[in-house]
Amino acid sequence: DPQASGCPFGGSGKARSLLGRTNKDWWPDSLQLEILAQGGKSADPMGDDFNYAEAFNTLDYDALKADLTALMTDSQPWWPADYGNYGPFFIRMAWHAAGTYRTGDGRGGSGSGQQRFAPLNSWPDNGNLDKARRLLWPIKQKYGKHISWADLFILTGNVAIESMGGPVFGFGGGRADVFEPETVYWGTEEQWVDTGAETRIIPDEGKALENPLAAIQMGLIYVNPEGPGGVADPLLSARDMRETFSRMAMNDEETVALTAGGHAFGKAHGAKPTDTFGGAPESEALALQGFGWLTDKDEIGKGHITTSGIEGAWTPNPTAWGGDYFRLLFKYDFELVHSPAGAQQWQPINPDEADMAPDARDPSKKVPTMMTTADMALKMDPEYRKISERFRDDQAALDDAFARAWFKLCHRDMGPKTRYLGPEVPEETLIWMDPVPEGSTPSDSTVSAFQSAILGSGLTVSELVKAAWASASTYRNSDHRGGSNGARVRLAPQKDWAANDPAELSKVLAKIDELRGDLSMADAIIAAGNAAVEKAAKDAGFDVSVPFTGGRGDAGDEHTDAESFEPLEPFADGFRNYLRTKASVKTEDMLIDKAHLLGLSMPEMTALVGGMRALGAVSEHADHGSSIGVLTERPGQLTNDFFVNLLDMGTEWKTVDDSGDEEFVGSDRASGTEKWRATRTDLVFGSNSQLRAVAEVYAENGNEEKFVHDFVSAWNKVMNAGFFK
Ligand code: HEM
Repeated sequence: DPQASGCPFGGSGKARSLLGRTNKDWWPDSLQLEILAQGGKSADPMGDDFNYAEAFNTLDYDALKADLTALMTDSQPWWPADYGNYGPFFIRMAWHAAGTYRTGDGRGGSGSGQQRFAPLNSWPDNGNLDKARRLLWPIKQKYGKHISWADLFILTGNVAIESMGGPVFGFGGGRADVFEPETVYWGTEEQWVDTGAETRIIPDEGKALENPLAAIQMGLIYVNPEGPGGVADPLLSARDMRETFSRMAMNDEETVALTAGGHAFGKAHGAKPTDTFGGAPESEALALQGFGWLTDKDEIGKGHITTSGIEGAWTPNPTAWGGDYFRLLFKYDFELVHSPAGAQQWQPINPDEADMAPDARDPSKKVPTMMTTADMALKMDPEYRKISERFRDDQAALDDAFARAWFKLCHRDMGPKTRYLGPEVPEETLIWMDPVPEGSTPSDSTVSAFQSAILGSGLTVSELVKAAWASASTYRNSDHRGGSNGARVRLAPQKDWAANDPAELSKVLAKIDELRGDLSMADAIIAAGNAAVEKAAKDAGFDVSVPFTGGRGDAGDEHTDAESFEPLEPFADGFRNYLRTKASVKTEDMLIDKAHLLGLSMPEMTALVGGMRALGAVSEHADHGSSIGVLTERPGQLTNDFFVNLLDMGTEWKTVDDSGDEEFVGSDRASGTEKWRATRTDLVFGSNSQLRAVAEVYAENGNEEKFVHDFVSAWNKVMNAGFFK
């Protein structure tokens, strides 16, 4: 069952497109800026020479933090601060920026400032955060290229917590902005949560949350605050919270600490029915200049705001860190009531006057506090309750757990700690950072002596190339996890992944280990793969050298949270012609997805697939060994045979019966004799018009050497992926 096994394309069995519902589907009338990005033209005004890390390192960090601290209480008449403090509002902004992260494919998260763009800028759950970003604009403008929006969202959240006396664990900068919406699969529903999108978990109907999604309904960050599908049942809400938070790598303790810690601050907004407000930013009038959800100025002034529809603060001190959230949660019984906007929420029964909250605009007025159904889950769910009671009784434990969980939330998609910038990077290294002990750079002679030895060891080109690929290709550009550094391919769970042909891999790794001398395993695996590619090119008549950069370290089990690596397992890897089970998206879509996560262009992907086939570097196939898609008479040589033979009109292709349209046989058109076996991933390079155009280039006379060079350069890119020196 691909769903149970965590396949990111498992789904509910229903076929879907790779990207699901896209911005074009939601907003068909929006400006079609993609036409300007044709021909590889970038939307990024900063240009290729801009290095964000360098710009960040010359930032006046203290001055920026001082400006942010001042901003917290600098209330603007066009969007007055509740309680005179924007801190809580900014914490929600940062949480929603980071909270889209999901472990399934590593996409989402705060890494590139996506909250500025559709669809996120218009998600119902991001209501009114357009105002939060606009409050920050003068500061963004002041510090310019030295601070990205992406970093600013998170740093502002940190400063907000600090300025209200809350605990923080640190801050790492380094999130470079992008200038276009990222293409991410957010689901297929054609409605947003506030207009009736279906809930994604319905156990009675056997409906489970589809991977890699982590939100319970379209347009939510996680769960519906009113309860699943609007059913105000805290236990069902706990079920949804556990499922969704685990998909952003949060366990029960982290989930409780984050939610309760976040709701120590601020208030929910549900003063008026939602239909009195304008549309989301992406669909609003030009004159509104990117603002959405608009209402009357006077109403804003009076604090008559509706965002979620829920109304009220969680604690009597919404601008100060403390233990009031748990104190109230356990001190009172709660009854289900409706907010002025009609949302269901929980109100303490007969609260003491001192346990009531100030009015957001008039501190002399007292109003009831509230809890959402999701907050009530922290009291009613037995597992959550144990943790909540512990935190209620031990403020220091809550401080520590909240600070750490917040730090993880905001940094989970940044990759290794070497990528963190700035003066507030914590000393402590945490297991979720996938730490790798520092390696040492080997001399050229050490590398070449090892390469000669491994080529003479009896291992084949295919075996060495497959091992190097297995090591490096786990990298994901989305959250910068995986890759060859650390040589985790020799640890659980990776060593046992079916895609890696475990028996063969273990034999190859043992031989590499035996011969590697002073090289780290991580370096040796890649150096061996490079040597095999050089040999394969030479055997085909091309003298090329594959560049090698050494210095990788070896991680041990003690540096590795094995379970957290499970989402990196390939359920399909078109580069190796591997498919575990048919999924909800087409097999060739999964190749595109993987190429995207590896940061490859279309020609790079094409050259790699053709080259890997020629090298015979495909996974063992139940019926055909390591030959499926290997369209060459001389496997192991780096030739363009794959493309030449694929595009040969002498071959006629047909589906193999009962393969579910996954396997094909290519026969001689005249004699009918079988020549080749191939998969969808192979044939797509002949059937898709754009991929065919690229395949033709590599099949053409005179381009044989170009192909070898293009393969080597794409290969090198993958071998170095995730190795941040
Ligand atoms: C506000 C729900 C987790 C921080 C809100 C609001 C809702 C909500 C409905 C009111 C929005 C409005 O109407 O203005 C939830 C649910 C969560 C969750 C269902 C998870 C189960 C978190 C987390 C954090 C957080 C993890 C941060 C660590 C905040 C803050 C506010 C807020 C600071 C107040 C914003 C303001 O005062 O303007 N949340 N939240 N929440 N949330 Fe959460």
